Amino acid sequence: MIGVFDSGIGGLTIVKELLKKLPGLSLIYFGDTARTPYGTKSPETIIAYAIQDTEFLLEHGAKLIVVACHSASSVATESLRQRFPEVPIFEVVTPSVKKALQVTRKKIIGVIGTRATISSGIYQRKVAELDKEVKVYGNACPLLVPLVEEGWIKKPETRRIVKKCLIPLKMRGIDTLVLGCTHYPVLKPIIQAKAGKRVTLVDPAEEVAEQVADFLKKEPVILDQLTRGEEHKIYVSDLTESFERIARLFMGQKVKLLKADCEISHVIKPTPFKASHI
Ligand code: DGL
Repeated sequence: MIGVFDSGIGGLTIVKELLKKLPGLSLIYFGDTARTPYGTKSPETIIAYAIQDTEFLLEHGAKLIVVACHSASSVATESLRQRFPEVPIFEVVTPSVKKALQVTRKKIIGVIGTRATISSGIYQRKVAELDKEVKVYGNACPLLVPLVEEGWIKKPETRRIVKKCLIPLKMRGIDTLVLGCTHYPVLKPIIQAKAGKRVTLVDPAEEVAEQVADFLKKEPVILDQLTRGEEHKIYVSDLTESFERIARLFMGQKVKLLKADCEISHVIKPTPFKASHI
């Protein structure tokens, strides 16, 4: 199975794209709704949670991991690769950086995301590794996450906040904007309208799905290890009715959420939670 994790339900925007690009492969998702958000937490906490989330997926049969959460992708990827060296691990930052570099004409890229993502400086580092001439400006837009979760997709308040988030980036003259958070693809039409039609949006969900599909074409041995079938399992660490409503918003269809059988630890030092097999 392909394993995908996120701090909550937002990672379903990535699941939606993975299912489009890889029809016929079954998928297991873990949304850490009990400990969401990750975007306000320290790198140490996000790393500890990301390791536990990955363990849950591996214990439930995942053979390949997609880190759907941008905050976790930004700060925890290296630790995950060190901890699970035998597992192919994909994250959402690198494919978006590659796409942004392909599409920028003026070599000025903007990124919006959570505080954890923006303050990690990961986009600046990754872009500099590939092209030192390109400038990258980030702006944290934490207010957009609750607005999306409340379903305020077309409200004037949301339009105003999106506009405000983009002002510092527009002042820098960006021509490309990376949607560096799981929730932002839902706001694409508003973000495009406020960024202006000359700004190209990069949707990491599309880019990571493409990257996983390309990888599997080249790695038939790993492809063979993945289970086929249309039955996908969407686990959450806490289950409420509102999570089901939000899940529908992200996937564009009704989603059955399963409560994960795991102990949640909010503290880092005690042993990570162990998920028992179902
Ligand atoms: N999934 C998170 C991300 O993409 C957004 C929500 C959160 O802060 O946990 O960074």
